[in-house]
Amino acid sequence: MTQVSSLYLHVPFCKHLCNYCDFYKKLYDPASNQIEDFHQFLTDSWQRHETLMADNAYAWSPLETLYLGGGTPSLWGLKGANFLGQWLEQRLTLRPGAEFTMEVDPGTWTEEMILAWKAKGLNRISIGTQTLDPNFIKIMDRSHSLDESYSLLEYCQNNDWNFSLDFLLGLPFSREKKRNIEIELSNLLKYKPKHISLYILNARSKYPHVQSMPDDEFIREEYLFVSEYLQKLGFVHYEVSNFALPGFESKHNLKYWKGEAVAALGPTGTGYFPQAQENALRYKWKVSKPEIEVEELGIKEVSLEHIYLTLRTNLGWVPRQMSPALEKVIQNWKALHYGDFSEGAVKLNSLGFLMLDSLMDDLFRAGF
Ligand SMILES: C[S@@+](CC[C@H](N)C(=O)[O-])C[C@H]1O[C@@H](n2cnc3c(N)ncnc32)[C@H](O)[C@@H]1O
Ligand code: SF4
Repeated sequence: MTQVSSLYLHVPFCKHLCNYCDFYKKLYDPASNQIEDFHQFLTDSWQRHETLMADNAYAWSPLETLYLGGGTPSLWGLKGANFLGQWLEQRLTLRPGAEFTMEVDPGTWTEEMILAWKAKGLNRISIGTQTLDPNFIKIMDRSHSLDESYSLLEYCQNNDWNFSLDFLLGLPFSREKKRNIEIELSNLLKYKPKHISLYILNARSKYPHVQSMPDDEFIREEYLFVSEYLQKLGFVHYEVSNFALPGFESKHNLKYWKGEAVAALGPTGTGYFPQAQENALRYKWKVSKPEIEVEELGIKEVSLEHIYLTLRTNLGWVPRQMSPALEKVIQNWKALHYGDFSEGAVKLNSLGFLMLDSLMDDLFRAGF
């Protein structure tokens, strides 16, 4: 039996649907039965998940990481803390010191709610800050005010929470409105976050401001500026989109990047089970009913994913063997200062992380 000690749970509702967001969510209506329906979805999913695990020789062990993502898990509120507390107690245990993270939208929290979750083991908060600029918080269609962001930051700092911030780059009108990310970052860092997730805005063709997006060169400068700025303050750029003070890396997300088993529940939640012989299973929950779509990954797919995921992190990729074609690619990356290539490992730096997609193309061309 292989042990599973990580669980992602997707909470599928939001107070407002931000116009740039691609995550699966529905608009929350307090008068509806959405929360009760979600509880039923989780309960109905459980048996299906148990069968999937038994069929593939997986068994639960006490959880090392639990991650509530969304959507807006903070909107699940007190009802969620009560439900999940009991629900988990009947099925799973949290290992002492387990990392339990919840994503919190600054417009959907109360102290009472956070304390209720804390009583169930919550010990890490991921805040959807996005920007601290009054113009851009509106452009980004956020439903919360900057005062609400500051108030949550202050609460987390004053109560010694281990917290992370989401910060967006590459916003529309950034050049025209002279977005000053240095001021935003210095304001954010006054609250002493332990972790920062830095996302480059991914704009679909239907995005209302798609014509006003900054060009690649502008985004590259922003990304490298933030990376250098945070590294000078002691943050480690440990994954393409993530920085942490040493020891505060996301244990949950590291499991994904290392290709370890992570179970998932909730609509669109996606789980991954590595298997013997270097195969793997990936499964995704449907949204309309508690059923999964299972994808079987073969050796070739798992090994390509392994290259991509390890290159995403500062753990680096250790090629099994060095062919002349791969040697040539790596020499080229070295000449372009994309990372550290000593002792048989390929560890990208911030510039290399930024180029990752084109570096994967180099590997394909070299026969990987
Ligand atoms: C599920 S949301 C976080 C929790 C909560 N719903 C909120 O918005 O505060 C996860 C994060 O994904 C990021 N995100 C959403 N849509 C994105 C996009 N199109 N491009 C880049 N990042 C995006 C945002 O930074 C957001 O904070
Ligand atoms: S609140 Fe978060 S999950 Fe919901 S739409 Fe906005 S960015 Fe997406």
